[in-house]
Amino acid sequence: MKFKKSDTDSMLELLRWRRDVRHFKSDPLPDDVISNLMQAISLAPSVGNSRPWRIVQIKSETIKEKIIANHGEANAKASQKYRDEERDEYQSLKLAGLREAPLQLAIFTDLDPTAGRGLGRQTMPETLTYSTVIAVHQLWLIARTMNIGVGWVSILNAESLNATLEIDPSWKLTAYLCIGYPAYDDDTPELHRTGWQENTSKEWLEK
Ligand SMILES: Cc1cc2nc3c(=O)[nH]c(=O)nc-3n(C[C@H](O)[C@H](O)[C@H](O)COP(=O)(O)O)c2cc1C
Repeated sequence: MKFKKSDTDSMLELLRWRRDVRHFKSDPLPDDVISNLMQAISLAPSVGNSRPWRIVQIKSETIKEKIIANHGEANAKASQKYRDEERDEYQSLKLAGLREAPLQLAIFTDLDPTAGRGLGRQTMPETLTYSTVIAVHQLWLIARTMNIGVGWVSILNAESLNATLEIDPSWKLTAYLCIGYPAYDDDTPELHRTGWQENTSKEWLEK
């Protein structure tokens, strides 16, 4: 397979428009979309070919309510780090689309997978989590090619989430994803647009 310059341009355009989405329409996603998302995960690289990602689709409304409460508590706690106007500013941010997103996935990393037989992770066990993160990013990109948005929610108490889902602690929460059709498209990060954190530059050093 030989790719073309137009593929590079399309890929850059895709990266430019990827964005973290917190505002969703509640329309359900067709099955073929979900199967493409799963395929994107399945095609990810992983240390020792360990494929340590473990995915739980949240369908139960009771569990969703517990996760919304978990996020609410974690977010309230996080806001205590700030004072005065900065706290007001933090509290005005929408940092999750947990109520609206029609597809929600809790993605874990198995910290001791049998697959891979330990290859590549003896000195850097965190490479298991890196592998899951890459899989998540692949899902994020393929979702965007189908005009679907993904929002990563990390403002959660991971231990409580494991308990809610009755998941053994040997699976470490790596990402909680809200997925659905975005309420609108934008090529600029929401935190940049709201003025919370502008995109910085000069992240590439040469020595
Ligand atoms: C590991 C990780 C965790 C994140 N957690 C949250 C979160 O809890 N809530 C949120 O609103 N955005 C979250 N984000 C999204 C970032 O805020 C977002 O990627 C960043 O502001 C840049 O915006 P962009 O993704 O649209 O380029 C997370 C992103 C990453 C990579």
